[in-house]
Amino acid sequence: MQKDIILNGDCVEILKTLPNKSINLIFADPPYFMQTEGDLLRVGGDKFRGVEDEWDKFNNLAHYDEFCKAWLSECKRILKDNGSIWVIGSFQNIFRLGYIMQDLGFWILNDVIWTKPNPVPNFKGTRFCNAHETLLWCAKDKNAKYTFNYKTMKYLNNNKQEKSVWNIGICIGNERLKGDDGKKVHSTQKPESLLEKVVLSSSKEGDLILDPFFGTGTTGVVAKKFGRHFLGIEQNKLYIQEAQKRIDKIEIISNKITRAELEIKPPKVSLKSLIKASFLISNERLYNKAGVYICHLYEGEKVRDESEILSIHKMAAKHLNKSNHNGWNYFYIMRDSKLKSLDSLRYEYQMQINKLKL
Ligand SMILES: C[S@@+](CC[C@H](N)C(=O)[O-])C[C@H]1O[C@@H](n2cnc3c(N)ncnc32)[C@H](O)[C@@H]1O
Repeated sequence: MQKDIILNGDCVEILKTLPNKSINLIFADPPYFMQTEGDLLRVGGDKFRGVEDEWDKFNNLAHYDEFCKAWLSECKRILKDNGSIWVIGSFQNIFRLGYIMQDLGFWILNDVIWTKPNPVPNFKGTRFCNAHETLLWCAKDKNAKYTFNYKTMKYLNNNKQEKSVWNIGICIGNERLKGDDGKKVHSTQKPESLLEKVVLSSSKEGDLILDPFFGTGTTGVVAKKFGRHFLGIEQNKLYIQEAQKRIDKIEIISNKITRAELEIKPPKVSLKSLIKASFLISNERLYNKAGVYICHLYEGEKVRDESEILSIHKMAAKHLNKSNHNGWNYFYIMRDSKLKSLDSLRYEYQMQINKLKL
């Protein structure tokens, strides 16, 4: 499978050549079909350069729908069963895209609102200033087991569950690509921080991310930065050149967030097996993190305090006055006069097992 390259041409034709179920994640930022007419003038009288590009022109809505149905159908075919797709659009096109996607069998997981603290004003003052775009995040079907790095996103959001409203500035300053004439290279270059959330939330290190409307390559930049592979499709050669220059400058970052280490499930280990492997002693005393004695191991799988025999989880919950709690995270043992968490023991045990397998 080709990766980390930008293919030049019409995305529908190129998508047709890609193998079934070969892509982990798709980010698509298609033409909006804005249908703007006449010049928009800034307050000072200068002309505002919005989206007037040829690539955004279609004969009518039926023509636009036909095009979207064609590329979305191919995206569905090439997406792996456990993959997912993000499609971004504005009020002009997002409802049509959502309708087509549902008809094709995609399952909408979220409609994320990207709010812009620095939107383009409504120059004529004839309606509200449009200060957001919508991203539809969809699985391949209702039962698909897609990637969602829930804990990573919570960690990045100050340990609060991440919401479906993202407040991110539009692409300006040094990030915005400009030509020698000082004009924007691309009318709709997306901010990298928007793609960072997309990539970190719904892909794994080494995944292949496809962008069929690559533009100046924001998806490729972020994919490379976070250790993912990309495949771009773009019909405009100038955009491809600019995208490649941007991507070439990127250095790969690898850390516990990009590797989604917070999502790794703890090994499935029983107290009995820890005793058998001498990580625990039968009848061993268990403490809380303050070093207060709570209970002791009882016949392999249970623990006993002054009044009851319970599972480690029920015992932890009882002493915390809660309805449930993870006992692995609550209990400690004493080793060389120091507290050692029960949780760390199951990881050490798993490492020993893995070593024996090698
Ligand atoms: C909304 S822009 C994407 C901008 C991109 N996300 C970025 O950050 O630079 C849409 C892009 O799709 C390209 N495009 C439009 N129709 C296409 C087609 N049929 N095949 C390939 N590329 C197409 C346009 O040239 C344009 O660069």
